[in-house]
Amino acid sequence: MSRPQDAAAPAQDILVHTEAGVTTITFNRADKKNSITEAMYASLADALAQAEADAAVRCVVLQGDMAIFSAGNDIGDFLRQSAAGAASDDAERPVWRFLHTLAAFPKPVLAAVCGPAVGIGTTLLLHCDLVYAGDNAAFSLPFVNLGLCPEAASSLLLPQMLGYHRAAEVLLLGEPFLAEAALEVGLVNRVVPPSECNLLAQTQAKKLAAKPLSALIETKRLMKAGQAAQVRERMREEGASFARLMAGPAAREAFSAFMQKRHPDFSNC
Ligand code: COA
Repeated sequence: MSRPQDAAAPAQDILVHTEAGVTTITFNRADKKNSITEAMYASLADALAQAEADAAVRCVVLQGDMAIFSAGNDIGDFLRQSAAGAASDDAERPVWRFLHTLAAFPKPVLAAVCGPAVGIGTTLLLHCDLVYAGDNAAFSLPFVNLGLCPEAASSLLLPQMLGYHRAAEVLLLGEPFLAEAALEVGLVNRVVPPSECNLLAQTQAKKLAAKPLSALIETKRLMKAGQAAQVRERMREEGASFARLMAGPAAREAFSAFMQKRHPDFSNC
């Protein structure tokens, strides 16, 4: 359902295609490395809501292309929100609506990841059920480098998945880790050549689409039942911190530096 306050993304930035029980959502803003604008989050949330409501849809695939999954949040949008002091923890904002819809999505979600997966490009994967990566995939969580904190309950889920110290390394230093490391820690299911990645996700999605939906939904619900409330609560807590940091001097300096193609100077932050 689209909401009056959400500007629609240019139709070509997010492609949505449903066929034979599989909804495929494609990031399609390659000139900006598939960075995600507010309008694109609204389109993503709407596409998921539609896929959830459509009884003929049995699973969803999220994908980019062979060179890029997503460079994360559009930093121009971040800069504008920071300057406007936007209430980023408002649950109705498209980004949070997308993340909450994805985290609670009842049907299986698959992702095919090639090239960089930055920020939310990586954290959204924590809410996918099957993740396939091209051998060129590079995951990174540069929240601290942007004067921000983690979102999508990644401050909860990454320490669980990686162990505290490895999570601290990727979250505090924000350095990229590659497909093989992601495979080793269980963030991805399989690593393949980039030319095969989207195809593999489609093959697996077709297998899921042939299975009984009620059994898929119940199995996913049971696997996540122990943690669903904790994830929701952590996302709320992160949202409040994110909003506060977003309006702070470190974030503003980081966003301005990115837009001006220079290194940030945090000596006063
Ligand atoms: N928001 C807005 N624009 C972005 C962007 C983002 N997150 N990421 C890339 N772009 C834009 C660049 O500004 C550039 O635009 P221009 O051609 O108008 O100058 C274009 O996309 C290409 O980016 P570039 O940095 O030249 O590509 P690259 O292949 O050298 O590097 C990345 C790719 C993804 C590694 C790099 O763009 C990057 O680190 N982006 C920022 C990621 C980030 O910090 N995201 C926020 C996470 S919370």
